[in-house]
Amino acid sequence: MCGIVGYIGTKTALPILLQGLRRLEYRGYDSAGVAIFDGARMQRTRAVGKIDQLSNAMGKSNWAGSSGIAHTRWATHGGVTEANAHPHIACSDDLVIVHNGIIENYRELKEKLGPAHRWTSETDTEVLAHLIESHYTGDLTRAVQTALSHVRGTYGLVAMHAQNPHTLIAARMGSPLVIGIGEGEHYVASDATPMLAYTKKVVFLADGEIAEIKRENVLIMNMKHEPVKKYVEEIDWDEAQAEKQGFPDFMLKEIFDQPSVFEDAIRGRIDVEQGTAHLGGINMTEDQMRAIDRVLFIACGTARHAGIIAKYAFERLVGIPAEVDVASEFRYRDPVLNEKTLVFGISQSGETADTLAALREARRKGALVRGIVNVVGSTIARETDGGTYIHAGPELAVASTKAFTNMVAIMLLYAIQFARLRRMTISTGIKLLNALKEVPRQMEHILEQNDCIKTYAEKYALYKNMLFLGRGINYPVALEGSLKLKEISYIHSEAFPGGEMKHGPIALISPDFPVVCVMTQNQLYDKMRSNVEEIRARGAHIILIATEGDAAARELADDVICVPETHELLEPLLNTIPLQLFAYHSAVVLGRDVDRPRNLAKSVTVE
Ligand code: M6R
Repeated sequence: MCGIVGYIGTKTALPILLQGLRRLEYRGYDSAGVAIFDGARMQRTRAVGKIDQLSNAMGKSNWAGSSGIAHTRWATHGGVTEANAHPHIACSDDLVIVHNGIIENYRELKEKLGPAHRWTSETDTEVLAHLIESHYTGDLTRAVQTALSHVRGTYGLVAMHAQNPHTLIAARMGSPLVIGIGEGEHYVASDATPMLAYTKKVVFLADGEIAEIKRENVLIMNMKHEPVKKYVEEIDWDEAQAEKQGFPDFMLKEIFDQPSVFEDAIRGRIDVEQGTAHLGGINMTEDQMRAIDRVLFIACGTARHAGIIAKYAFERLVGIPAEVDVASEFRYRDPVLNEKTLVFGISQSGETADTLAALREARRKGALVRGIVNVVGSTIARETDGGTYIHAGPELAVASTKAFTNMVAIMLLYAIQFARLRRMTISTGIKLLNALKEVPRQMEHILEQNDCIKTYAEKYALYKNMLFLGRGINYPVALEGSLKLKEISYIHSEAFPGGEMKHGPIALISPDFPVVCVMTQNQLYDKMRSNVEEIRARGAHIILIATEGDAAARELADDVICVPETHELLEPLLNTIPLQLFAYHSAVVLGRDVDRPRNLAKSVTVE
């Protein structure tokens, strides 16, 4: 996830900005840049790679200015190149801007601005720079406000202009910005880490606010230019806490990131009016999409669980055969593929060796291969003939959480897009998309139950074994809940489809074997309820994920976690979250290293 640092004061800005960028390294980045007003003109250097590479690129330049902005970029629009790195300028070198977020309508805006502008990158941010410049008549605040009124999307941005280098303009919509208050100096950054060494007094900008930051004061306004009263908060975080935005671990932070990164995944990709989705990265014409007669999802671990959900969605909505394969198995069997088979490789890192090898094999055998990947520019993203980034932002905890929900989101969008080209009605499409738009708010609602889920985790953490059950679309949810629990808490757990219990696993059931059942209100509710009753009859403790308002749930289970009602195919987006929290708190109670569980690596680049 990109990082921003800005400084304005009396000290030399360069070392503060470079140090600030180093503090933001934990967010992950692929390039970096800095711009400083050196007393005469705006100076700018950018480089691909680490901050050291940026320092090297600067050579002996020792700019003396005391105001500037800097950025670490995690590519979203456009490849990892120096030209795409921030800060961006427009036609003149006077205006510089750094930006986090996504400008959805940047293509339209670029077209309107026209070819007369000097375009040097593939980024949405450069379009924003030109837009601001086109409205600039000597007042940067007004220019930013007017430009932003034409923008659709998210931003945390900081801009400065050589004609008034003693003011930084910061604006926020959906992408955090914090202003640090010092004595005769101010800082601005995407989180508090770069400023903690200098001040603990901060102001958090809210969405729709714009700040004029000078040495002596900070003026915060709304987009109508009306002043907004803000309170200075005193934070007592140390650096490690600030990186995690106050959460004790990256995993918990990433679980709580889900509502906002889910919005990033679907933003600009849905067309509610037409009941469809537009994922242009598929690189296929509509006729080619209609000609596909089979789809295959290849992945490992959590990504494979997202693939199982995709299989259910494709079969139900698109009506074509869909299969899921464990990548390490696929690569060594004799899969039957042809040019009408579409293969999706799903991977957070985009570097998983088995997934990569399986995709190469699928391509060799004539299938169409596309990547569903989080890390931009990763090998799978580069080697596939198209696909989609899931926009979950860097996932640092080994246990995958927000990448899972965003993988599911993208696969649902693909299912809708393909289905609308075949048999799905516009009204079904609209219904699904409206339900999808509700998901972030519903996720927030589930996250509010964190304390309650923690008490359940504390109650069960000392059991040696656990079972997870689900049916239909909730079977992969059970698999994912079980994987999360075992990988970070080391409690042995298994997952089964509810209907399989009688074929063996029910022999395990006893009061020492708690069972987590996903029993939300969908077409398999009655079937799942019978499975829960069978378990209850054998004396096991039951933790139930149930739909809000299900009166039977309290009678059946020892402990119940309620989730909001949604479309059946969307249930995994909600039902997985309590299981992530349950696994997380179980691991904490047992004193495990939640972010770095034993024997596991974040990216499995060997076979
Ligand atoms: O980077 P990938 O999505 O390809 O990784 C696949 C698995 O290694 C990964 O999902 C793993 O199962 C996680 N640790 C699960 O939390």
